[in-house]
Amino acid sequence: MVREGFALLGAFNWSDHLSWLPKMFDPSRVEKRCADLVPRVRKLVSEIIDEHRKSLKGSERQLGDNGDFVDVLLSLEGEEKLSENDMVAVLWEMIFRGTDTTALLTEWAMAELILHPTVQSKLRAEIDSVVGSAGSIGDADVAKMPYLQAVVKETLRVHPPGPLLSWARLSTDDIQLSNGMVVPAGTTAMVNMWAITHDSSIWTNPDKFDPTRFMVSEGGVDMDVRGGDLKLAPFGAGRRVCPGKNLGLVTVSLWIARLVQSFEWGPVDSDPVDLSEVLKLSLEMKKPLSAVATV
Ligand code: HEM
Repeated sequence: MVREGFALLGAFNWSDHLSWLPKMFDPSRVEKRCADLVPRVRKLVSEIIDEHRKSLKGSERQLGDNGDFVDVLLSLEGEEKLSENDMVAVLWEMIFRGTDTTALLTEWAMAELILHPTVQSKLRAEIDSVVGSAGSIGDADVAKMPYLQAVVKETLRVHPPGPLLSWARLSTDDIQLSNGMVVPAGTTAMVNMWAITHDSSIWTNPDKFDPTRFMVSEGGVDMDVRGGDLKLAPFGAGRRVCPGKNLGLVTVSLWIARLVQSFEWGPVDSDPVDLSEVLKLSLEMKKPLSAVATV
């Protein structure tokens, strides 16, 4: 199944299908990046697998808690055993889908925290109250930090790293929508999550970065961002929902918490924070973030 998706992605003609997208979603750039990136990543993951295979053969080492993800894939036996192509596809998906999304979400969150020092101080106060100013922050602590979770949710709302869901999927049947419109079979349709999360009929002051909208204790709502509520579904929803959503959320929460606990973050006077967006493989900051970290 993974390989089928992989083959489809390779066969898809990006420029035919992306020409209607707004100017900011520059299709030629997406196409060029895909053309260039995919073979490079495929080569990289093949090399990683080769290297692990050699070291496994050489040392016959036992896989324990210290084995990494590639070790686990290589150790699968029987019905679970994966072919080399499937392993490449799994690793490629993880790298392709999981790294820039988490890195970009952290960058967007830090940019907003620099622009909103009071939000940053409030977050630091929450972290201090849970683990202390120097205590180490673990996965379990994130659950005890509602404001941290609210900051991550609000960043996902204002800057969803994957703004277009169901990227390039084809409707197999005519679909009747509740508003009377029909999506004919054979249509390439996408969900513009960015438009939903910036819709003023759904969100009050949608362009305002305000994590308290997700703080129940401050009159906000406790929203499930993992596909349970389509008003904010930055990981998609349903069968093709992002399988890395929990990993992504915990990773980004931990990164932000540790960065904010360790330093006070401010702007660089000569290179101020600019929230302009550009859609590449994910939604990126057009001007990468520069920041000053003070201990
Ligand atoms: C904050 C981080 C992340 C965000 C915002 C994000 C967002 C998304 C979105 C919007 C989709 C498409 C859903 C759709 O088309 O309906 C997706 C799919 C996917 N994501 Fe993530 N993702 C994140 C992290 C990760 C991580 C860490 C991994 C893996 C380790 C991952 C693996 C995948 C895969 C494999 C798919 C394709 C699923 C499919 O087509 O069936 N993602 N993600």
